[in-house]
Amino acid sequence: MVLLVTGGCGFIGSNFIRFHLQSHPEQKIVNLDKLTYAGNPGNLAGLEDHPSYTFVRGDICDRKAVGSVVQDHGIGAIANFAAETHVDRSISGPAVFMETNVGGTNVLLDVAKEHAITRFVQVSTDEVYGSLGPDGKFTEETPLHPNSPYAASKAAGDLLARAYHHTYGLPVMITRCSNNYGPYQFPEKLIPLMIANALGGRKLPVYGDGQNVRDWLHVRDHCHAVDLVLRKGRPGEVYNIGGENEWKNLDLVKLLLSRLNKPESLIEFVRDRPGHDRRYAIDASKIGREMGWKPSVSFEQGLTETVAWYLENEEWRRTIESGEYRDYYRKMYDER
Ligand code: NAD
Ligand code: DAU
Repeated sequence: MVLLVTGGCGFIGSNFIRFHLQSHPEQKIVNLDKLTYAGNPGNLAGLEDHPSYTFVRGDICDRKAVGSVVQDHGIGAIANFAAETHVDRSISGPAVFMETNVGGTNVLLDVAKEHAITRFVQVSTDEVYGSLGPDGKFTEETPLHPNSPYAASKAAGDLLARAYHHTYGLPVMITRCSNNYGPYQFPEKLIPLMIANALGGRKLPVYGDGQNVRDWLHVRDHCHAVDLVLRKGRPGEVYNIGGENEWKNLDLVKLLLSRLNKPESLIEFVRDRPGHDRRYAIDASKIGREMGWKPSVSFEQGLTETVAWYLENEEWRRTIESGEYRDYYRKMYDER
């Protein structure tokens, strides 16, 4: 069965494609990505000629384009990673979040229904549940309480996915994961931004009092979980995915500085993010019970690998900082 991965040039999508081509090299994957600022074909460098991999540049909001990809490539399953994902950008400009995360998801669901797609994973986030106090965890039954425009747009996408299962019987599963870290993450997100700034001798901006808590999971563990849900998940179900690994932002930033041998004086407390969620924590016992999933990468190992990856891939960082990565598509595809 040919699998359509949307948003495969982003952080998690590109890690998922690499993971999938290694785990199931025979299964064909088509990657549909619009190449927004967050999409970097360089994240998949080396796979251009892989016999099981095809890249199509396109927008999930474009009904005709999505229909053609599904028809022309004989798509049987969809994993939707494509989204606008950065909370701060959603606060300064929410419109594109609604277009892609709500409108684009709606287009994918419609096309999936028209073409009798047999498996559809909607990759979502723990942010749809809102913010926790000092105790407790989000379960799949926690009511949706999105606080940022990003979270609201993802919650709307989830509700559409749920409704398409309920009304049309579309075999949709929704995954809700906590904060991911690992290679190829765009350096606007906390961990790669702090590494890039520390290496560049710039200040590290910590929002508010730095006491907000996030539950960090290595991206490889997230990819494994999505793959399991794609194969074994029960249609109509939601699966939480998390790392059992809570960190206060300030403690995490200090840990990164120590790993990089940089002084804590680089930390700068800045104005808080408006509406900043205080704490996220995931109860991932359902996917553990049903599919035997649990995190396999310890934070110690994952962070060591991740810091080493950003140090070793200086050229990857440089082309993002200079904007040259926006030219990769032409170099990798048009000029070949
Ligand atoms: P990302 O921002 O790194 O990548 C998003 C990708 O989607 C990019 O390649 C971009 O070009 C593509 N894209 C955006 N709009 C598109 C459109 N209209 N049509 C086609 N492609 C489009 O995102 P990420 O961090 O890899 O997140 C992937 C998914 O996982 C998202 O749905 C996000 O909500 C979810 N998620 C992320 C995290 C996290 O910590 N990063 C945690 C939980 C869930
Ligand atoms: O929880 C899953 C979500 O994790 C995903 O759905 C989102 O797509 C992803 O961006 C991420 O959202 P966060 O807002 O938690 O991630 P971010 O890396 O932007 O911020 C992590 C924490 O660090 C958050 O409390 C805000 C804080 N922060 C962030 C940045 C960029 C800072 O203190 N300084 C910063 O410069």
